[in-house]
Order: sequence, then structure tokens, then C-alpha cells
Amino acid sequence: MSATTVPAAAVFTSSWLALREPADRAARNPEVLQACCQAFAGQDALTICDLGAGAGASVRAFAPLLPARQRWVLVDRDQSLLSAAAPPADNAGVTVETMVRELADGPVCWPTDARLVTASALLDLVSADWIARLAAGLVAQQAAVLATLTFDGLIALDPAHPLDDAVSAAFCAHQKRDKGFGPAAGPEAATVFEGFLRRGGFDVVAGDSPWRIGATADEFMRQTLTGIAGAAREMALGGAVDAWLEDRLRRVRWLTIGHRDIFACPSAVHPPSSDA
Ligand SMILES: C[S@@+](CC[C@H](N)C(=O)[O-])C[C@H]1O[C@@H](n2cnc3c(N)ncnc32)[C@H](O)[C@@H]1O
Repeated sequence: MSATTVPAAAVFTSSWLALREPADRAARNPEVLQACCQAFAGQDALTICDLGAGAGASVRAFAPLLPARQRWVLVDRDQSLLSAAAPPADNAGVTVETMVRELADGPVCWPTDARLVTASALLDLVSADWIARLAAGLVAQQAAVLATLTFDGLIALDPAHPLDDAVSAAFCAHQKRDKGFGPAAGPEAATVFEGFLRRGGFDVVAGDSPWRIGATADEFMRQTLTGIAGAAREMALGGAVDAWLEDRLRRVRWLTIGHRDIFACPSAVHPPSSDA
């Protein structure tokens, strides 16, 4: 859920990204990751470009799945986040370069030899038009894509509260506000992206990747609920949200936030054994 704790300007703090990284790692869909891994199995080297890279969580999550020699190009507009990005300590074949770029200017900025483009917790921030341009660029260059943790609109709380549905609807409406790319695709982003990729002739493997946050994850739970309440408040639910948040912080045992993961590649790439 990319925009949970951010206003429309979409500023992300390194502390929030660090807090969510273990939950993201646990949430990503294993079948989607496996499809990506299989697509590049048997290759020696790979150039990968990560869009909206933040502090480099995608490198840490995906490097173990990919060929031994990896050149990563991390793209983000936030230089301070990028400067914290580092390859996994135990992976000597991985090199990391950074590119400070305003992605609203367009998604197609990867090196021409990049065969895989990745994006985590980014697509729900961008517009449907931006997603169309991303898909068109991938299809034109026949580059595969791994897009994970795109918020899909599901917010489930246990135990329930009478205002849960109203807050959830307000949050989803907030997700569709402009986050710097025009009106955001929000909860529809993954479906929109998948449609463009299939129409472009890509093979697509998609699956759910929900966060399941237990009450023991107190700080992550607190920040996530507070972010949801903040967005709902901005959507004119007003003071009722304060009582909702106070109750939810005290009583919620499980919070589920839905996401969707997608791996897609040109048919010639998948399965990898086809060119053996
Ligand atoms: C939710 S964070 C995800 C970061 C990282 N992918 C991760 O999983 O930890 C979204 C990232 O997109 C970047 N971002 C948002 N809007 C952007 C824009 N218009 N241009 C470039 N980067 C942007 C933010 O700086 C942030 O690092």
C-alpha cells in the first residue's frame, strides 16, 4: 500500500520504508516470484531497472532470485533515499547504480540492455495513462516486468467496527487522487497494467500479496492505521475518524491490506527452456 502514510505530494520517509520492508518481503506472492526466477534461470548476467526504488528494497528482495551477475539501475526522484540503497552483503556479483529522475516525466528510462524492469509499491500512485506508457515501453523493448505490492482496495480489520467500510471506501477514494502523475489508478492499477500487458502479447503471472499485520507488530500497525485514518479524514469523514482510530488502535488484532503482484514477459522469454 504505497500511499498509506503520505499526502498527495507522495513523500516517503526512510523510516517508513524500513518499517514496511519485512512485511513486504513476507507478503510478496511466491508463485509470481518463482515465475520471474524461472524466466531468467540459466542466464549468467542480467541488467535490471527498478522504478521508484526508494532505499533499494527491491534489490535486497529480488537479487537472490536472479542470475549471479546483476547490474541494477535504481530510479527515484529522492536522492536521499537512493543514497541508502546498497546491494545485499552476501551477493558479490551485484552492482548498483542510481538515477535521480522525476518519473512523472515518463516511465521509460531504463538502459536499453535492461531485460527486467521492477517496481514495488509504485503502480497505485501513478495514472492509468502512465501505466499504459510503461506497458507500451516494455512491449516495444520486449523487457520483462516484476511489479509487486500494488494496493488492490482490500482493507479488512478483525474485530470489525461499524465505520470500517466507510473508512475503507474513503481511503480507496483518496488513493485515486493525484500523487504527482495525474489522477491515480489506485486500487485498479494492477488490473489495468495486467490488461495492457496481455494485449501486448506478454505472458502474465499474477497473484495476491496481502499484508497480514498482527497486533504484535505494534509500530507498523499504528502507522498503517494512522495513515488510513489520515487519508479518510481528508476525504471529509471528519471527527468520526478520530473515534474510529482510537478504537482500532486499541482493539484490532489483525489488519489485512490487499496487494497484487505481477510478473510478465514476452512469450519468447517464458518458459526459459524454450530456447534451450
Ligand atoms: C512506496 S515507495 C516504494 C519504495 C521502494 N520501491 C520500496 O519498495 O521500498 C514509492 C517510491 O516512489 C518514489 N516516487 C514517488 N513519486 C515519484 C516520482 N514522481 N518520481 C520518482 N520517484 C517517485 C518515492 O520517492 C518512493 O521512493
